[in-house]
Amino acid sequence: MADLFSSYRLKDVTLRNRIAIPPMCQYMAEDGLVNDWHLAHYTSLARGGSGLVIVEATGVAPEGRITPGCLGIWNDAQAEKLREIAAAIKAAGAVPGIQIAHAGRKASANRPWEGDDHIPENDPRAWPTIAPSAIAFGGDLPRVPKEMTVADINRVKADFVAAAKRALDAGFEWLEIHFAHGYLGQSFTSAHSNHRTDQYGGSFENRSRFTIETLEAVRAVWPENLPLTARFGVIEYDGKDEETLNDSIQLVKAWKQRGLDMLSVSVGFTIPETNIPWGPAFLGPVAQRVRNEAGIPVSSAWGFGAPSLADNAIRQEHLDLAMIGRAHLENPHWPYFAAKALHQENPAWVLPAPYAHWLSRYRSPTQE
Ligand SMILES: Cc1cc2nc3c(=O)[nH]c(=O)nc-3n(C[C@H](O)[C@H](O)[C@H](O)COP(=O)(O)O)c2cc1C
Repeated sequence: MADLFSSYRLKDVTLRNRIAIPPMCQYMAEDGLVNDWHLAHYTSLARGGSGLVIVEATGVAPEGRITPGCLGIWNDAQAEKLREIAAAIKAAGAVPGIQIAHAGRKASANRPWEGDDHIPENDPRAWPTIAPSAIAFGGDLPRVPKEMTVADINRVKADFVAAAKRALDAGFEWLEIHFAHGYLGQSFTSAHSNHRTDQYGGSFENRSRFTIETLEAVRAVWPENLPLTARFGVIEYDGKDEETLNDSIQLVKAWKQRGLDMLSVSVGFTIPETNIPWGPAFLGPVAQRVRNEAGIPVSSAWGFGAPSLADNAIRQEHLDLAMIGRAHLENPHWPYFAAKALHQENPAWVLPAPYAHWLSRYRSPTQE
């Protein structure tokens, strides 16, 4: 039976364990460029011992960033700096992944600690947003986006393809397309945000077209032997959950047919008013349903930070990989903490030798 510390192989990539660090925006970039903050942050996370580190949502186009502090991958200078991160993650023994993203109508926002709301339109830092329909998200994100033309749709698809090529060239071995969290891909899929009357709106088949075409185009340039994953909100918790989940599973099957290797199961976040049953590991059973019914490996985040929860999710086959986010911000050496809690043999040796040697030899330095 696999557990949290079993290795995991997907295509030609093998992770040293089932612990993955999900994308977490740092909001510390200027002009989308990696700087010392990102380098130290990702190096430290990778040295903590997880199998996979996925670099934060990285904009495929300037208008696709969530905030002015988000990373970008729409030019070669950005890709050159991302190369340093991919190399640092790999040198620490983890697999370097990256999430490529377009924020759609949720773009042009302030950093979370500066308001998390839309930047006022008259502020020089703001930019116009685009989406399937001219419908605002609402709440703190009231800006009405421009409805995308088919030419806009084709351009953004091409942006995703160019981003995938740059990510590959920069040394990433695991690519995640961000179709979740109310950003562009998710907002095409949801009837809440897509009121189009052309081939990209209306029926579920039409609302699925943008993500299917984007995924297909990305797969064509992303090597067959490397994992291609997507993050998607399979459920909204808006009262129509069974219908949404069934539709989502059909969509995931369509992506799988076109080369998707794994789904990162998440929540839609397409509308501000929902009834999300927040709680430890609450998405585990949802992920398991996607895994069984779509027949695809899954990962998920949201509240798996207690080691026993993450380990059980793997043992019970709810998840193939456990995404551990905020717990890594609390403790970048979380895999060591988990290895101790789960009574692994030689837990310190999930860390690099300059740490492991000392921690394995003597009493714990934090023991009373
Ligand atoms: C600081 C921060 C930034 C995040 N940025 C992203 C992101 O770039 N892309 C994404 O898909 N999710 C993002 N998320 C969501 C996380 O990937 C993850 O789903 C969330 O933290 C819940 O998992 P946890 O309970 O293990 O923290 C972010 C979360 C945090 C806390």
